[in-house]
Amino acid sequence: MAEIAVLVLALAAIASVGAHTLLTGAPPTPTSPIVRRVVLDLVPAHLTGTVLDMGSGFGGLARRLARHCPQAQVVGYERSPLPWLISRLWQMLRPLPNLRLIRGDFRGAPLESASLIVCYLIGPIMTDLAPELAARLAPGALAVCNTFALPGWRAIDSRVADDLYLSPVFLYRMPDSLPG
Ligand SMILES: C[S@@+](CC[C@H](N)C(=O)[O-])C[C@H]1O[C@@H](n2cnc3c(N)ncnc32)[C@H](O)[C@@H]1O
Repeated sequence: MAEIAVLVLALAAIASVGAHTLLTGAPPTPTSPIVRRVVLDLVPAHLTGTVLDMGSGFGGLARRLARHCPQAQVVGYERSPLPWLISRLWQMLRPLPNLRLIRGDFRGAPLESASLIVCYLIGPIMTDLAPELAARLAPGALAVCNTFALPGWRAIDSRVADDLYLSPVFLYRMPDSLPG
């Protein structure tokens, strides 16, 4: 009986992650440790204000950002319930005072007051996001994007991770990176 319960729970978890991947268009694949280091290299540790992880998944990158920028408030937005729940469990077990994990759509996030946004999202989402960020991010705000660039934007810095895929990571700043 216990085996059946475990199987049902496992299938429900897989179905939930699969359904939300279809819904959002992005799987909850975490940024790898090698790429995380590259991301953190591009993020000033003295940053203040609000850092938004746009789709925080299991929360690993958001936690690293919270430790890297102790004077900033890191807020992760995640739509998929299971990854979000796991990130909340970590936060209950090992609380970081400057980290909040919200279950919700990052399109409702207060982009206007963000000092930094971080994205690891696929190409079509970045295409949709680019004009919204251009309209809503404040001057001086930074954006760090893992693997998928913001179409049309000019990076002020970029790095290539030493991983299997040679993943690129891009740093943008408002308004210097805007097209035109
Ligand atoms: C590739 S994962 C990145 C996880 C984490 N940011 C990292 O780099 O380790 C992308 C996540 O974005 C989430 N996502 C996609 N669209 C979203 C939206 N509109 N609002 C909130 N989360 C979203 C997905 O559910 C997925 O977990």
